[in-house]
Amino acid sequence: MVRRKPLVVVTRKLPDSVETRMRELFDAKLNIDDVPMDQAALVEAVKTADVLVPTVTDRIDTAVLSQAGENLRLIASFSNGVDHIDVASALNRGITVTNTPGVLTEDTADMTMALILSVPRRLAEGAQVMIADKEEWAGWSPTWMLGRRIWGKRLGIIGMGRIGQAVARRAKAFGLQIHYHNRRRLNSGIEEMLDATYWDSLDQMLARMDIVSVNCPHTPATYHLLSARRLKLLKPDAYVVNTARGEVIDENALTRLLEAGEIAGAGLDVFEHEPAVNPKLVRLAKQGKVVLLPHLGSATLEGRVDMGEKVIVNIKTFMDGHRPPDRVLPAML
Ligand code: DGY
Repeated sequence: MVRRKPLVVVTRKLPDSVETRMRELFDAKLNIDDVPMDQAALVEAVKTADVLVPTVTDRIDTAVLSQAGENLRLIASFSNGVDHIDVASALNRGITVTNTPGVLTEDTADMTMALILSVPRRLAEGAQVMIADKEEWAGWSPTWMLGRRIWGKRLGIIGMGRIGQAVARRAKAFGLQIHYHNRRRLNSGIEEMLDATYWDSLDQMLARMDIVSVNCPHTPATYHLLSARRLKLLKPDAYVVNTARGEVIDENALTRLLEAGEIAGAGLDVFEHEPAVNPKLVRLAKQGKVVLLPHLGSATLEGRVDMGEKVIVNIKTFMDGHRPPDRVLPAML
């Protein structure tokens, strides 16, 4: 008996080389026009697919999963984060979930470092002056557009997993003092290598940092971890950077504090209600108080190809009857 190829439904356009390989290996239903799928289209997909390949823009919630057909055995997400999937509900239905950890660590850490530099050193504002139509650059001045020094400042990293540690390595090279809060303390070898100080109390760490970088996943436990109360603990000259997930910060509270000048600035690559961006944040960006990026943390060609290859390995391994390497387990949530 000839085994049919698995029907793999991919929700968004992926890099060409990944799609080509998927076509070779699977009965791949691709989305080459990259039109995001609405809920009805996702329901249709889970009804028919053997494997679903969603991305962070798809909401795979219980409503969608409850419509899944018997064939759906694997959700191989093209993402590191899995907060767009109701993983518990999938696992309860016997559907395995995989993600793509590791391959976007360095790219995301680069982008975090870029934001750590951009906000205090007024990079976006300065670049804007050079291309603005009405304003012409009048030349160097001893007191114009002064930012704040990075070297020697205290960086507090929330979430010291792979990405947090990659941020710490970079930040150390820039002369920042590394502090961190994490569910578990790192082993002393890594702490020593990073010159990192562990804070068991997030509140106490926040009150002492010059820059705070959010690098933890969004889970029920980290939703609004930076709540209005905690954000108020920050020093008025502190900066907040987030390349993880918007939901980890109470975005309205952050916006209010920025407007009131109770926090110096923010660099945000992710938003609480993505793709919607709070218009007040856009106004603050125009005033130079915040730098906003459109979720570009892992957006390199190399990174996206690597993510696609991980998805393929996960599907192939699963279809060959083995445990896929990047299974999402309940303990990770
Ligand atoms: C992920 O994969 O979780 C990123 O946020 C998308 O690049």
